[in-house]
Amino acid sequence: MNIIKNGILITPEGEKRADLAYEDGRIVRIGDIVPGDGDEVTDASGCYVYPGFIDGHTHLDLEVAGTVTADDFDSGSRAAVAGGTTCVVDFATQYKGDTVLNALETWKKKAAGKARCNVAFHMAVCDWNEQTKADLPALREAGVTSFKVYMAYDTALTDAEILEVLEAIKPFNGILGCHCENGGLVAELQKEQLAQGHTEPWAHPLSRPAEVEAEAVSRFCYLGALAGMPVNIVHLSTKLGLEEVRKARKRGQTVYIESCPQYMLLDDSNYSRPGFEGAKYVCSPPLRKQADIEALKEAVLNGEVDTIATDHCSFSYAKQKIAGRDDFTKIPNGAPGIEHRVAVMMHIFGDSLKPSDYCRLMSENPAKVFGMYPKKGALAVGSDADITVWDPNETWTIHASDMQQNVDYTPFEGMEIHGRAKYVIVNGVLAAQDGKPTDAVAGRYVCR
Ligand code: URP
Ligand code: ZN
Ligand code: ZN
Repeated sequence: MNIIKNGILITPEGEKRADLAYEDGRIVRIGDIVPGDGDEVTDASGCYVYPGFIDGHTHLDLEVAGTVTADDFDSGSRAAVAGGTTCVVDFATQYKGDTVLNALETWKKKAAGKARCNVAFHMAVCDWNEQTKADLPALREAGVTSFKVYMAYDTALTDAEILEVLEAIKPFNGILGCHCENGGLVAELQKEQLAQGHTEPWAHPLSRPAEVEAEAVSRFCYLGALAGMPVNIVHLSTKLGLEEVRKARKRGQTVYIESCPQYMLLDDSNYSRPGFEGAKYVCSPPLRKQADIEALKEAVLNGEVDTIATDHCSFSYAKQKIAGRDDFTKIPNGAPGIEHRVAVMMHIFGDSLKPSDYCRLMSENPAKVFGMYPKKGALAVGSDADITVWDPNETWTIHASDMQQNVDYTPFEGMEIHGRAKYVIVNGVLAAQDGKPTDAVAGRYVCR
């Protein structure tokens, strides 16, 4: 048996000063545990013991924008465990002409033998047709309970198709997330910016203003209402979009909100950095105004935000972002974050959120919304031994030169952080210690 002693456990019943034992990948006891012969003891004095953190929104090894993301399941999962994340829900993506079942197999192969954290998959449905519809029950049987559609990019579905997806996943209580940006408006506003000679990264947020998100959020909520289904708004970034969710919730709808640390910390002034530096922050939706940041933070503090993910989608600044040097619309969209989510959230919110809040936003709720609770997301007897021992007393600074992410920058460069993942356990195996991965490749596919 392995025993974690002297820590403060963050359990579904609240904080508990207790020991925790795990064996064969499962939590077997919580309480006052006297180690026996052969037991291995980890001292967690002064530390919080969390159920392993879950990042519900990552893009690893994704071919997009004529390139492939800088992080695959090797570097991405190294980064995840280094930062305290024991499970990611990545986006298996159905390209046009492909089937969703084949897309799942493709993504399982990408992760196989590489993942240091557990991996579940949402299915990004990008080619809606009779075959896709017919394959959904088998996809559910294969462990996929959550889906994503886009309202923008060349992966976008029409409103009618999105409604059909919602209706098709209803029989098995699937949950649909949506990239809420009005793609038609984005294309038009991009054209307007380029016509005015605005080719630099600072034109990116001007082509995707808050209204573009809010309109799409409102539309997706109404599609959910028509289908009689809950919906999940992914990477919410604006006050206007938040107000649309509030309206839908007032109408009685279940609308989950996911947001990301970058939208609560970094504003759109970053796009005007000297030279081409602004390209590092080109993600969609874009970084916003200070008023949006404040509104989202308030929503987190009020309990209106359900999950915090990263939308980790990394591209090398020198080698990949540079494709948009003369045209901001050609900058691959996305930014890295998988390694620093927990640390940055604690940097933003400090003691204004309690350990149980961090647990709810970054472990418990992602597990609940995506059908993994209480196997994941809970410190309870019988749950998987995915555990993050967090030392709140360690101080360190984020540097790209000292991270696991396979990318040449981080949007959080130079940030001083208080607290660090001391021990990160995946399926009962030590996957990282003091911010560095061990040799263990212990991640498994999470069949939900
Ligand atoms: O810019 C971003 N976020 N790229 C990743 C794909 C998405 O929209 O989630
Ligand atoms: Zn998206
Ligand atoms: Zn995304």
